[in-house]
Amino acid sequence: MVLCRLGLRLVVNIVILASFSPVASAQSELNPLQKAKLDKAMAKLSELSQMRENLAASIDPKQEITQQTFAQTCMPVGKALKAWSKSQGYQVKQISEKYRNSAHKPAAQDIDALKAFAKQQDKRTITKIANDGSITLYQRINTVTSCLHCHGEKDKRPQFIKDTYPHDKAFGFEPGQLRGAFVVSIPTR
Ligand code: HEC
Repeated sequence: MVLCRLGLRLVVNIVILASFSPVASAQSELNPLQKAKLDKAMAKLSELSQMRENLAASIDPKQEITQQTFAQTCMPVGKALKAWSKSQGYQVKQISEKYRNSAHKPAAQDIDALKAFAKQQDKRTITKIANDGSITLYQRINTVTSCLHCHGEKDKRPQFIKDTYPHDKAFGFEPGQLRGAFVVSIPTR
């Protein structure tokens, strides 16, 4: 069993390495159906990031930022993500090394992808393919200026965030920095 897991890990690592090289892409090993699923998932995640950026950009800086503001900006993205994953039968999560909600703490197997995104600013996605053909897609989430209302300087965070998340790590970001990633697990069938 342990050996078997080791074997799987090796394969996964090889696929990750391959995806770093501009010539050998991990996606070339996918069949057309898997490729289509992956493309659709990437498009959906881009749409959700765009949605969050648009909603955050519509915040009026003159108004106090409250739970209500959150309910209209970052929260709808989490909800739309869940609804979409349910409709597709995929597992999804948002992860970040600097997480606000501990449900978004990265698992051990997700750390490499976050590190790779942090190192390579222009890297948008990482795909891992397991032996059984199931796919794990990581897609980067960037910080834009409007995120700083709630993910900026520690002391300037809205009061509701300080009260609700005493162990918050999701502050001190700057525009253009990696904020985190979406992780989607696409089963074989
Ligand atoms: C109005 C405040 C607000 C704004 C603006 C905001 N967020 Fe958030 N964000 C939050 C809160 C609160 C959470 C924790 C949600 C929870 O409990 O699941 C969060 C969580 C997240 C998470 C999940 C990881 C974690 O830290 O728990 C990501 C990713 C994220 N935000 C990205 C962004 C990005 C990117 C932007 C800008 C486009 C943004 N947020 C703008 C309030 C905000």
